Amino acid sequence: MFRLEEFQTAAELEAMEATIRRACDAAVRDPFAQFLFIDRYTRWNGYAGALVAKLSGNLGESQDLFLDPNEPDRAQAVRGMDVAGHVLDATVDEHLDKGHRVPHRTLAQAMRKAAADYAGLTLSERNARSEPPAWLRDVVARTFTCYGSVAHDAEALIRSIGTHIASESMADREYAIIDRVFRAERHEEGFYQYLRERDYRVELGGKLVHAYAWITIHATFESQGVEAEHLAEAMKALELAARYRPEPRERILELAREGYRSFADLQRDFFVNAALECDAAADGRQRAA
Ligand SMILES: [Fe+2]
Ligand SMILES: [Fe+2]
Repeated sequence: MFRLEEFQTAAELEAMEATIRRACDAAVRDPFAQFLFIDRYTRWNGYAGALVAKLSGNLGESQDLFLDPNEPDRAQAVRGMDVAGHVLDATVDEHLDKGHRVPHRTLAQAMRKAAADYAGLTLSERNARSEPPAWLRDVVARTFTCYGSVAHDAEALIRSIGTHIASESMADREYAIIDRVFRAERHEEGFYQYLRERDYRVELGGKLVHAYAWITIHATFESQGVEAEHLAEAMKALELAARYRPEPRERILELAREGYRSFADLQRDFFVNAALECDAAADGRQRAA
């Protein structure tokens, strides 16, 4: 079996967690900074579900690429959907969460709306401040490229499985650290207190939607959520891809590591820039006060 340690060293994991932590600490300095953080994170994250579905579709479509070497009857050997199934697993609830009966995007929007209310933003401020800055457009564009895969291109598909492994393993850490900073460390203050006073709900399209569940369904500061399961499935997808491809395992790992690296770089850029933006917002408001 491939192991996560083959993609990321303990030192890299520690550096990644510190980068996420810095951005979260900058976010909670001020309600407006917190809104910016949540706006940026929900925008970037909002593409993940669709991109995972695309990768799964591209794997399944590539009927000539993933073949069981032990099956001499060619049509009986096609295994693309077996690989795809372990990727698709991660995005079923993205499209319609079994518990909440809405897409995860809706839960993310509920949180963004609550953060905008908490910061006291007017409608025009919400629209103006959500205009994506250049750094975010760059991160999003690179996310499309490395998650993008290409049907019928084995190397591109395996790179994108590596990206998917990166995204799932890092999301687990992201949500856990956000939950630690927003909820565990600030249970009786700030944004979390504001949410509690409103029973955690905001009005969205005529419905009351939980405005914090988006974090805790993915992971919490004290327990693993769905991201850990998605990661386990992503590793199985890579395992099957290796079994059904003629390249040696080392080559499969090398390609997957390339996809992993590309995503790790853009994830770092996301949190470094989010921290800078939140710090600048909080500093600006302090000076104005
Ligand atoms: Fe999700
Ligand atoms: Fe996930």
